[in-house]
Amino acid sequence: MIEENRLRETYKVQVIDFLGESNTLTFRSHQYRNLMEMIVDQLSEDIGDCMGRAWCGTCHVELVQGNLVDDKDSKEDHKLKELYNHSQASRLSCQIMVNKELDGLTFKLLSEYV
Ligand code: FES
Repeated sequence: MIEENRLRETYKVQVIDFLGESNTLTFRSHQYRNLMEMIVDQLSEDIGDCMGRAWCGTCHVELVQGNLVDDKDSKEDHKLKELYNHSQASRLSCQIMVNKELDGLTFKLLSEYV
């Protein structure tokens, strides 16, 4: 029962779009495989060309508020370094798992291809 309630709990993340507008996206734990899929579903279909393989860079985001628990792996780090506008706070949203740890974080879309 406790596990069932936990799965129904709703969390929020802010995503600043390409126009500079802040958008609130809501999710339940494990509702999406990754942040890119949530953004495509709720905000912008213009990202995610490689479907989460860390190849295209279209899902590039910057973490502007909060801290992420999980860190980049070498594949993600390599792709990010190829993007001219990457920074220390850059991530590929397709490599960020969707769980309650994202609650309250703010990301900014940074794709260089859109
Ligand atoms: S969807 Fe292509 S790198 Fe994330």
